[in-house]
Amino acid sequence: MGSDDAGSVPSAKIISFVSFKGGSGRSVSLANVAFQLAKTYRVGCVDFDIEAGGLHKVFDIGEPDRDSIQQFLMDEEDLSNYLDEEVIPDYTDEEVFQKRLVIDVPNTTCPWISPGDIQGGLFLIQALPDADMTYRVDTGMNLFWRFHKLLRLFAKVESLDFILIDCRSGISNLGLPGLAYCHCVSVFLKWGKQHRYGTNRFLDWYSSWLDSAGLERDIYLVPSAVDPKIVTTKVIQDFVANELSEDVTGISLIPREASLESDDFVFCDVDTLRQQKPYKDLAHLLAGNSGVEEG
Ligand SMILES: Nc1ncnc2c1ncn2[C@@H]1O[C@H](COP(=O)(O)OP(=O)(O)OP(=O)(O)O)[C@@H](O)[C@H]1O
Ligand SMILES: [Mg+2]
Repeated sequence: MGSDDAGSVPSAKIISFVSFKGGSGRSVSLANVAFQLAKTYRVGCVDFDIEAGGLHKVFDIGEPDRDSIQQFLMDEEDLSNYLDEEVIPDYTDEEVFQKRLVIDVPNTTCPWISPGDIQGGLFLIQALPDADMTYRVDTGMNLFWRFHKLLRLFAKVESLDFILIDCRSGISNLGLPGLAYCHCVSVFLKWGKQHRYGTNRFLDWYSSWLDSAGLERDIYLVPSAVDPKIVTTKVIQDFVANELSEDVTGISLIPREASLESDDFVFCDVDTLRQQKPYKDLAHLLAGNSGVEEG
């Protein structure tokens, strides 16, 4: 895969949300950024946390369908037919699009692609019990091609300006497509030692992968749900200068909101959200200052 390949992805700007550790405020932040951008733009969300998807919980929109991104990624069809084609195959009848849910935000809706099957409250990769299938999902370029096509189709079918991808946490090839086919990456962390250590490991891994693929990405560091009295902008700048192993394009601080500690569904309270300056700032940063609505 070369940079042309990635550049041709979709007309939409793609922003990935990732973290080394779980519970880093990734999904809540994605929902809030979606909210901010959807006031002006057409925004689609992809829950690519295919082992433990949770966007539907943040948006409070019921359970996802069984047919989902996983099905699309593991389709039996031989993709080699499409390798050299510029033409996007017509997947508009594919179940993955029919079954997507729609998130209501004021004045508009955000189409959403579900992460997958729910079993006992945890999303499991359907292929896991089958070693052969697992091999096919986890390795090789098939996953990349399929994800690439999924994004292009999503952007085209839904006429999207932005696609926000909720990636899985940790480090794995399974999550790489979400970090490959995007314009910028926001890396979430809480302020504990393990989060900072893990974020460094993630950045090392991601940067060397980008180098080997000949790609460059804007990377934003987003300390999230931090105590603003302890983790000030100065503290973060010192961390970036002295402890962070790789350069980042920018930082955006999301302070801990008292209201969120007892309420997971930040998205519900629209009036409060309009006032959420940190998320508005983050949306502004990630969107490349392309005009997030003021006020
Ligand atoms: N700014 C904030 N202030 C206070 N609590 C927050 C904030 N952002 C997120 N939280 C809370 O932290 C918890 C984890 O947030 P979230 O689900 O967004 O993290 P995540 O990184 O997506 O986790 P997972 O790895 O489980 O998907 C949630 O209970 C959420 O309400
Ligand atoms: Mg999440």
